[in-house]
Amino acid sequence: MLDILMSDKHAIVLLKKDHECVLKLFEDFKKAESKVEKESIITQALEELKMHAVVEEEIFYPTVRKQVGAEMMNEADEEHHVAKVLIAELEQKNGGGDHRFAKFTLLAENIKHHIKEEENMLMPKAQETKVDFEALGAMILARKDAMMKNGIPVDAEHKLVAGSRGVIDSPAAAAKKKKPAIRKMAVREGDETRA
Ligand SMILES: [Fe+2]
Repeated sequence: MLDILMSDKHAIVLLKKDHECVLKLFEDFKKAESKVEKESIITQALEELKMHAVVEEEIFYPTVRKQVGAEMMNEADEEHHVAKVLIAELEQKNGGGDHRFAKFTLLAENIKHHIKEEENMLMPKAQETKVDFEALGAMILARKDAMMKNGIPVDAEHKLVAGSRGVIDSPAAAAKKKKPAIRKMAVREGDETRA
């Protein structure tokens, strides 16, 4: 169905509005020149993404799962999981360290891919189901209101990252080491030649 024929309370219209909002923030991030500006965009984007993930996982995904099928839904679940790990890392104190902006850029790329799949495959399939999408939209709006008043629930990925007590991003940690392993190896080989 064409979006133009759907009311602005239709669940899919609401979810697509969220998508537009974060896609705009990702573009703004690319254009932003100052660190302060980039940080402000990261904060806004993470809040939007967390609320969006909650309404999809609690309301939209369970309703359309059977119609869409396990293969597509499982992939969407896993994309959410990876995104939420990155979000949790970015929300840690000094999250991402010197890799912070790279981590956010990767999150943005992952989300763009996820949005494309949702809008081109998952949502059209979901619309084949006989669901009252207006009622579903009302539930989405009510859940978002509640989160704005009471806060967003802490997800499993935040607990996982918090439990890691610091670094679980091993490539970022390795990049901080002063001597590259290959140089150490070369020195050792050189020592052997000299011996
Ligand atoms: Fe999603």
